[in-house]
Amino acid sequence: MKESKIKDFYREKIDELKKHNKLYFEKSSPKISDKEYDEIKKEILQLEKKFPYLNSIFSPSNSIGFAPSKKFVKSSHRVKMLSLSNAFDIKDITNFEKKIFNFLNEKIKIEFSVEPKIDGISASLTYKDGILVLGTSRGDGSIGEVITENLKTIKDIPQKIINRDFPKDIDIRGEVFIKKSDFNKLKNNFANPRNAASGTLRQKDPEETKKIPLKFVAYTFGFFESDRIKKQSDFLKSLEKWGFKVNEHNKVFKNINDIVDFHKKFEEERSDLEYDVDGLVYKVNNLDLQKRLGFTANSPRWAIAHKFAANSAYSKIKDIDIQIGRTGALTPVARIEPVNIGGVVVSNATLHNEDEIIRKDIRINDTVKIERAGDVIPHVILVDLKKRDKKSKKFVFPNKCPSCGSKTIKEFNKIMKKYDAVRRCTNEGFDCEKIAIEKIKHFISKEAMNIDGLGKKVVENFWDMNFIRYPQDIYNLDYNKILNLEGWGDLSVSNLKYSIDKSKKISLDRFLYAIGIRHIGIENAKLLAEYTKSIKNFIGFVTNNKLDEFSNIDGIGEIQIKSLKNFFYNTINFSVIKKLSSILNISEFELNKKGKLLNNTFMFTGKLSNMSRAEAKSLIEKNSGSVVSSINKKLKYLIIGEKPTNRKVEQAKEMGIKILSQKEWLNLLD
Ligand code: IVH
Repeated sequence: MKESKIKDFYREKIDELKKHNKLYFEKSSPKISDKEYDEIKKEILQLEKKFPYLNSIFSPSNSIGFAPSKKFVKSSHRVKMLSLSNAFDIKDITNFEKKIFNFLNEKIKIEFSVEPKIDGISASLTYKDGILVLGTSRGDGSIGEVITENLKTIKDIPQKIINRDFPKDIDIRGEVFIKKSDFNKLKNNFANPRNAASGTLRQKDPEETKKIPLKFVAYTFGFFESDRIKKQSDFLKSLEKWGFKVNEHNKVFKNINDIVDFHKKFEEERSDLEYDVDGLVYKVNNLDLQKRLGFTANSPRWAIAHKFAANSAYSKIKDIDIQIGRTGALTPVARIEPVNIGGVVVSNATLHNEDEIIRKDIRINDTVKIERAGDVIPHVILVDLKKRDKKSKKFVFPNKCPSCGSKTIKEFNKIMKKYDAVRRCTNEGFDCEKIAIEKIKHFISKEAMNIDGLGKKVVENFWDMNFIRYPQDIYNLDYNKILNLEGWGDLSVSNLKYSIDKSKKISLDRFLYAIGIRHIGIENAKLLAEYTKSIKNFIGFVTNNKLDEFSNIDGIGEIQIKSLKNFFYNTINFSVIKKLSSILNISEFELNKKGKLLNNTFMFTGKLSNMSRAEAKSLIEKNSGSVVSSINKKLKYLIIGEKPTNRKVEQAKEMGIKILSQKEWLNLLD
């Protein structure tokens, strides 16, 4: 690769890091997990290693944190506040020990102080003659923010220390955090306890800080001139004696294997702790050895943070609720004690279906391992049977719908020759309250009627107010009543009215999808629309009992026809369709198979002028072309807007993909 390309790529990574630094350090609202953040940092460091000409003042090899916020007075740390390097598995830990041996050039027995790594924010406290004279945040590691008054509001921080052996001049360092139970009481918009602590501590007005019960544990020192204390564990003992809180789980270990066992056990039990812990810190216990080992650019050689797996955590099931979906599926949901998984507080986990509960024998009050990956709903991976109460009873799945009382059944799947894992409410219509609400939510959704002024929460709210019971009620809303509701104003009501009116013009395929017939997704709805052409014809098929004829359509089979029959067998469903068809303007389905761009694939990079990506995509699709999101062999054209990603352009060129400007592309269209 050319040097310029590598530089571009490197700059992109640095920009990404800067963006996330800002979100994390200045706004206290990270958008990615620590693990993803570490990945970006790692990639930058690897690039710098491979291509030594790369450098940036924002690189993690140059900076530790992020510039302190502008709203506080700044102060230089007498001793830098460094960070710790991270380890994720046993290999990383043995490497850590190996590096120590290499550095010391001898293999000696090393004792470690093992301390829980509380996920809060670090602070440094300067005491002179026993008086707290300065309190700072970490800032960028060299310069922190002066937050003395805010720190003084924390009860765990002594303001005066009278012990005779307390050093005359010392910086005590530790973590400010908020207990999980206190965090749960907060109704603020903090994603997790860490953000809550950071946001609260850095309030301009200390009175604001005082309102939230922050805690402090001490774990190390900054400036400190003494050779009396020989071990980290002794320093921790002294801290306690001087009146600081230290972590009750701090422990000394003499070998790495025992530490790793402890880590495993601690990880399983961390959900029982009153505060969030994201790993354990291992520190060489002997302070002289620490001095010999010293520091690399931004972390000590004598310590490492052994992180817990970011995407799973243990918690306890408080209750199991049954949710009812649009098609009547009963989905069990575990209400769990809130637990922080990779930076997000999780309090619900799906249990999928009845079979899953039986297979894993999941019960109320069980301690379970929960996994959260990406945007997927968190789920239970296993039950910790050791922690199960002897008196616990198996969970009995309801055989009646908890919403409408109808019978629930498991259907027999003829193809698989077995019963479905999912249990369903047999009421296929609007008589079941929960099903009805879900049907309406589906009706308004993006791919369906696309009524964007009417979100899921608004539907629930309107349901509770008795404004809507059926989809057609949306077109008969009393806007004056809505205007009087809390949270609504002239603008939001007129936006709502606009998007409802706009949705009245709809194509047949979208409408058939919107009415929410089981097994009729967007693709099947298109097939039905293409075959029946108009809503009048479609209704004709239903009233003349000719639904079996749909088996002529390639793609529509027995399952879909049975589902259509079931749906229309319910008279309310049928009347909803008829009412809607008299209110809406349902246009015939036009399958554009002859567009100019048939069999052509496109991809975009950079900003388009006067046009959103969504509009551009729809233009291509109207012309029978398709849009992809990654460069592959099938891609024919790459369309370049303003500030394209150079890497994508280069890659496309290398693969012989045609490059088009926005103007050139528009010329291809009808
Ligand atoms: S020692 C030079 N000990 O972890 C090492 N840090 O990435 C200084 N932390 O900024 C830190 N618990 O906010 C140390 N027992 C502990 C800790 C701890 C939490 C945090 C601290 C620090 C970060 C390191």
